[in-house]
Amino acid sequence: MNTIAQIIKQTLFDVFAIDYDIHLSRPDNQFGDYATTIALQVAKPLGKNPRDVAAALAAKLRETNVFTEVSIAGPGFINLRISASSLSSELDQQWSDTFGDNKTGAGKTVVVEYPSPNMAKPYSVGHLRPGNQGWAVKCLMEATGWKVITDNHLGDYGAPFGVWVTGFLKFSSEEALERDGVYELGRVYITTKKALKEEKERGESILADEVQQWLIKLENGDEQAKLFSERFNRISLEHIHTVMKRLKISTDYELGEAFFAPYGKAAVQTLLETGVAVQNEDGSIIVPLDDYGFDVPLLVQKSNGAALYATSDLATILYREEHWHPDKVIYCVGAEQQFYFTQLFAMAKKLGITTDLYHLWFGFIDQLNEDGSRAKMSSRKGVILMEELLDKAEERARSMVADRDISDEDIQKIALGAIKFSDFSADRRTNILFDWDSIFALTGFSGPYIQYAAVRVNKILGDNTDVEPAETSDYEYEAEKAVLAKLLEYPEVVELAATSIEPHKVATYLYELAREMNRYYESTPVATGDVSPVQKQARLAMLEKVSHVFTHGLNLLGIEIPSRM
Ligand code: ARG
Repeated sequence: MNTIAQIIKQTLFDVFAIDYDIHLSRPDNQFGDYATTIALQVAKPLGKNPRDVAAALAAKLRETNVFTEVSIAGPGFINLRISASSLSSELDQQWSDTFGDNKTGAGKTVVVEYPSPNMAKPYSVGHLRPGNQGWAVKCLMEATGWKVITDNHLGDYGAPFGVWVTGFLKFSSEEALERDGVYELGRVYITTKKALKEEKERGESILADEVQQWLIKLENGDEQAKLFSERFNRISLEHIHTVMKRLKISTDYELGEAFFAPYGKAAVQTLLETGVAVQNEDGSIIVPLDDYGFDVPLLVQKSNGAALYATSDLATILYREEHWHPDKVIYCVGAEQQFYFTQLFAMAKKLGITTDLYHLWFGFIDQLNEDGSRAKMSSRKGVILMEELLDKAEERARSMVADRDISDEDIQKIALGAIKFSDFSADRRTNILFDWDSIFALTGFSGPYIQYAAVRVNKILGDNTDVEPAETSDYEYEAEKAVLAKLLEYPEVVELAATSIEPHKVATYLYELAREMNRYYESTPVATGDVSPVQKQARLAMLEKVSHVFTHGLNLLGIEIPSRM
């Protein structure tokens, strides 16, 4: 809470002897700089008329001499006006003691799980949001003092292996694998899956049996199966790492489904012993969840003894509890697995696990079709590959700055900034519209728009290193008022984004700050033209803070600022 809120909180306590947190809003400029509805909130518990409460508070607030105007509106809103110079010293205060040092998560551990792609196919846009959101959540939790452990829960186990080997032997060649790597594996996977489906429709199971044979061979430690598995996995994993590197995301651990497979059986056994799970007549094992409001039980072992997705997640939960003792686990996984995770978490509760397990889900990425309709993003060939998307974004960024001398590194930053920022354009639950023109628009809610605003600030600072930026009481800060008020909001925005696990709140804030800066330049020269030395010092000092907030905020979203653009 900033000191303005603190003063109101103290005043409330002095007058009415009650303790409430104060939320300040920014009303339309004609009413004031800040507003609070606190009188309305406390009137009922105090048994008083809200306007009387507001009047008593206002009288006392006027005495503090912090505000240039305190007025009451409507049923009991309090509007406050503050001088620009108090705002500036307020900001100074915040900067020197708490800025960027919010420790609401201190002493607590959170596991953040992302992007968790599957090994069988090349990295597609399907795992773009898990990566972007996951990385931002990791940064936000770190910024608020949490100990963060990140884990890439790779989909590297089970059927894909059998499908790969069967398909490779039937539909591919050493040559093709050598040449196309993971893309050949992806092709093999899709072709084989299709053949399996067709075979099933014909009532046959030749291929399916072969897939099963390879899985059994692998489980029994067959040499050839092991060689295939290691090789395919290596090709796929190298590819995943290449893509993650381009996306500038990484994790501390990479404990995938295969890692947990050996623990699965034992975990299911524990469930049976504790009575959490029951065995059906056909041998399958389920966890009934009717006491948690689900008609559908969770299947943790098939009738043939095979493990399932849920089996490995069960083992994962137990492993994390034992090794990491987290207070919270955040699973960054798409909306389509919502039902699954509510079931999984119910099972964990049944097992007596009290850790806060949280499914951070998000909507799909849509695109506009030629006829103007909106649909899930895809290409003529099917899914869109992540590397293709990144290549295209870089091409786009390159043409955007074609007339200037911009380094490849900066082009990559712009491309990635555009893609990532669009992920935070709305509440993460909403489907986002991926439209090339708007994600690169230099005038709207886009990564490049914010990056450009930051580059501009940095350029002014860089061009004026001969002047020492400094706050000074010789300067009025009237033109800076709106920007100062915006800067003051930042620590609270970060905290709110972290506690609600909503990185898009940071994005929205950065957009507003960029807009505020553009308005500021329109009215106020910083370093050129008719500017006195004192004005220049004071204005540059504020720009330093703006630059710092842009860097800090964009960094939380995994976006870098180009040196030029
Ligand atoms: N690999 C899975 C998928 O792409 C996501 C894994 C999510 N995490 C988990 N613990 N189940 O669908």
